[in-house]
Amino acid sequence: MPEFALSAKEAHLIRADAVVVFCGKGKRHPAGLPASTLRTALARVMKEDQFTGKEGELLLWHAPGGMPASRYLVVGMGPAEEFDLESLRRALAVATRTLQESTRHMAAALPAAGGRLPSAARVEAAVEGVCLGGHRWTAWISKTKKSRLAKVTLLASSTAAHRAAVEHARIYSDATILARDLTSEAPSTMTPQAMERQARRVARDAGLKLTVLDEARMKKMGMGCILGVSRGSTEPARLLHLVYKPRRRRAGTPRRVALVGKGVTFDSGGLSLKPSASMETMKSDMAGSAAVLGVMSALKVLDCPAEVHGVMVMVENMPSGKAYKPGDILKSMSGRTVEVLNTDAEGRLILADGLEYARRLKPDCIVDLATLTGAVVVALGTLCTGVMGYDKKLVDEILTAAKASGEQFWPLPLVKEYRQLLDSNVADIKHIGGRWGGSLTAGHFLGEFAGRDIPWVHLDIAGPSFAEQDQPLARVGGTGHPVRTLLRWLQPAS
Ligand code: BES
Ligand code: MN
Ligand code: ZN
Repeated sequence: MPEFALSAKEAHLIRADAVVVFCGKGKRHPAGLPASTLRTALARVMKEDQFTGKEGELLLWHAPGGMPASRYLVVGMGPAEEFDLESLRRALAVATRTLQESTRHMAAALPAAGGRLPSAARVEAAVEGVCLGGHRWTAWISKTKKSRLAKVTLLASSTAAHRAAVEHARIYSDATILARDLTSEAPSTMTPQAMERQARRVARDAGLKLTVLDEARMKKMGMGCILGVSRGSTEPARLLHLVYKPRRRRAGTPRRVALVGKGVTFDSGGLSLKPSASMETMKSDMAGSAAVLGVMSALKVLDCPAEVHGVMVMVENMPSGKAYKPGDILKSMSGRTVEVLNTDAEGRLILADGLEYARRLKPDCIVDLATLTGAVVVALGTLCTGVMGYDKKLVDEILTAAKASGEQFWPLPLVKEYRQLLDSNVADIKHIGGRWGGSLTAGHFLGEFAGRDIPWVHLDIAGPSFAEQDQPLARVGGTGHPVRTLLRWLQPAS
């Protein structure tokens, strides 16, 4: 990640290897650029090149000698009234991707779009745009062009608020990138035991307490659902529990939050085997647990005011002679028995035990994160998380945090009548509810184990946690969604 600096200089005076300026749709010259030789020259090339200023449009001008920078990149920002913080993130992302292989020092203006966007928030969005847009997972690529970007100067005054915004955005981006890389890693590498090693490293670096449950411990604790799912795999399951406690005592007792992440390091479907095409991206079925680890890694440096428990349930879902079968009945840690009908609905089973484990920590609220259903992708597409829960206040808190982060969330209803679709003739509950409303019956199943007494929210991240194509802020692979939203929710003051 490059070093960030702030400078109150204007874009026509700043020295750098490349300077990024922004131009609104239909405008003759870039926003906020004072009358100068540079502005006149850019207006001329923009006209010659028929630059229209539509969002994401690019114009790279090699300036003649005597200019403070040798190259100027004009980025289209679309209609000024539509320009928001997410547009700013994306604009900095596309600028970074364009320049990072050729530029050591990039300077960038921060368009205000009519002054509507608060300046610290703009600094934050710009840094996130650079860090997230510039990131690519290259661990296994032998020959690749490396980023040369060492320094980024943002054209904003160096106030304490702006410096804090830079720090803040860097931490959010680091946490997101950790989640991305873990999610992108190959499934035979990123096994439950590999995730345990990652959790140990994070615990050490970020000053967290880590408890690891192996299968023997799980058996003693009665986690029959996790063990059932794990049985077909030769990789042993793990339950990883990280604890962050706020350093300073603040007024009142800190809020205790439990995050529970689905960590299926590979979801073959088990005996209800997935077709090959559906299996191609199933290394990402641990994105929920990766996001939990990303969040946990940032809490200490952010000086988060809440006590946070990160619970990651790690298993591999495989077919074999020992695998659990349709028709099996599993006994959950809560004591309830579950009729299994499709071994590909494994996520809700491991979360049933994960949620019971979280409940016993007596938190004030529980949030689970899971790549749980294909149905949520049918409903909301690949960019949007489905939010479910019985507690409207908690749901609204999460939706508010999402608005500020730029990640897209949408509430889905836990229609009361659908609960009975889970009634079983042979056990206390069955784990699937039939063809329709698959995300909602999955939500109800989890809600049964989360309970009604502790506010709980379920985030079905099956769509946005993994990018099958490059996106403005994320390349193909894990996206780190919803790390930034959760950090914002846990850190409401900033
Ligand atoms: N991991 C999948 C859900 C998924 C699908 C995530 C597509 C990301 C992209 C989950 O374990 C699963 O297989 N769910 C089944 C449930 C069904 C058997 C009731 C599904 O959605 O098909
Ligand atoms: Mn599955
Ligand atoms: Zn799954």
